[in-house]
Amino acid sequence: MEQEKALCVRYLAAFLLVFFTMASCGSGVGVNWGTMATHKLPPNKVVKMLQENRIDKLKLFDAEEWIMAALMGTDIEVMLAIPNNMLEEMSRNPQVADSWVYENVTGYMYPGGLNIKYIAVGNEPFLKEYNGAYLQSTLPALKNIQTALNSWGFGSQIKVTVPFNADVYYSPDSNQVPSAGDFRPEVRDQTIEIVQFLYANNAPFTVNIYPFLSLYGNDHFPFDFAFFDGSNRPLIDGNSAYTNVFDANLDTLLWALEKSGYPDIEVIVGEVGWPTDGDKNANVQNAKRFNMGLLKHALSGNGTPKRKGIIDIYLFSLVDENAKSIAPGNFERHWGIFEFDGKPKYELDLRGLEENNGLVPVEGIRYMEKQWCILDSNVKDLHNLAESIDYACSKSDCTALGYGSSCNSLSLQGNASYAFNMYYQVNNQKDWDCDFSGLATVTDEDPSEKGCQFPIMISYGSSLLQQERLTNILKKALGIYIFVILL
Ligand SMILES: *[C@@H]1O[C@H](CO)[C@@H](O)[C@H](O)[C@H]1NC(C)=O
Ligand SMILES: *[C@@H]1O[C@H](CO)[C@@H](O)[C@H](O)[C@H]1NC(C)=O
Repeated sequence: MEQEKALCVRYLAAFLLVFFTMASCGSGVGVNWGTMATHKLPPNKVVKMLQENRIDKLKLFDAEEWIMAALMGTDIEVMLAIPNNMLEEMSRNPQVADSWVYENVTGYMYPGGLNIKYIAVGNEPFLKEYNGAYLQSTLPALKNIQTALNSWGFGSQIKVTVPFNADVYYSPDSNQVPSAGDFRPEVRDQTIEIVQFLYANNAPFTVNIYPFLSLYGNDHFPFDFAFFDGSNRPLIDGNSAYTNVFDANLDTLLWALEKSGYPDIEVIVGEVGWPTDGDKNANVQNAKRFNMGLLKHALSGNGTPKRKGIIDIYLFSLVDENAKSIAPGNFERHWGIFEFDGKPKYELDLRGLEENNGLVPVEGIRYMEKQWCILDSNVKDLHNLAESIDYACSKSDCTALGYGSSCNSLSLQGNASYAFNMYYQVNNQKDWDCDFSGLATVTDEDPSEKGCQFPIMISYGSSLLQQERLTNILKKALGIYIFVILL
């Protein structure tokens, strides 16, 4: 009898092991897919690329129909999001939350629909720069969304969360170690109330962590401590030794959570990554070093000194977005592991094995004509050049021109050509957009220099429209034809 029991336990254990291994198949790395670009990639081609790269977790910043349509029928696990500007209304009116869930969630929850796993309510709503604008509305909105999910029967299947910036917690200047961590006094009560609600609903706490910003903000920051393979002297905190700022940061949060009474709440790192342009530390070499080390570390199961296990991370981000606000810095438009046109920037092994695995690009992309707009070398009077450059840059993207960036060594003439070209490309190469009071001219010779690309935009948006128009005309023509035959 005893033996039988033991056998049974062993079978059960084996079964559970297999079950959990299967269940954790989707526990690879996730990515953030933002769409603030003037020329967006065709979503169905992006989804194909995600599948080819075996990226099976996706975090979105909204619930855009054109992206969700492309994801239908795939296994890709999706985190949808409710933008900050909807929080206020959602907090006051449960009906607004309910119709959001009805339209953007329920409508996709059927076989062959969408694999929605999380809903992010707001995005970094307690960020210092927002001065408390969403401090009162976030929790009520979160509650209303949860209630709506419950009433549609998805309350346990789909989890709510709030992605927080790492600035909601800190350790005091006098004691810069993770174990001294706590929530920032101005947001402490509201954050803990949210933690309490998430915990009660079995939902994760989500945090965005940016070692790049530690370096960006502080020239005295020990450079190697931003990476995972550095040789700096470790930061000692009691019995723990920290060799990278990512772990130190994450553990500061875990300490803050523990002090609030939630030592075992699940934590997701909603955004983490490294940009490749727009700052002296933003380049392909550093980005590759960081992301490779990050993936190896996060997927190894070693965890942080405070919490063992695989770290659930979403890379920031999938593709470059040339229309993002650059208020935080020029690097903001260069976070992608892929270029704006879906070409991988560097080799990256998403399984964390540090092999030089090439990522599969987005395939079948069409570009606009091979033509560029540059400063006309025949023009002698350059007195209003600066003004024209400023104008072109303000309406396009010149983040590669700044200090430490890929095109920073251009001459003044080169700067002008770069700015004119960006304006021209972003506006889809229309003749009248390459003039600048006679300063500019179109060329079919690529002005790119080593390390400094003069890009040509993808032609998807406009050509798709044209295609649609063409099919409509064809359909109509066919209709008339059939009509005539029938007569
Ligand atoms: C669904 O989400 C989209 C994108 O955020 C939003 O514009 C729309 O208002 C939402 N639907 C409802 C009924 O709230
Ligand atoms: C080109 O533009 C960048 C960014 O505005 C500036 O830092 C640089 O000094 C300019 N180069 C010249 C030669 O004017």
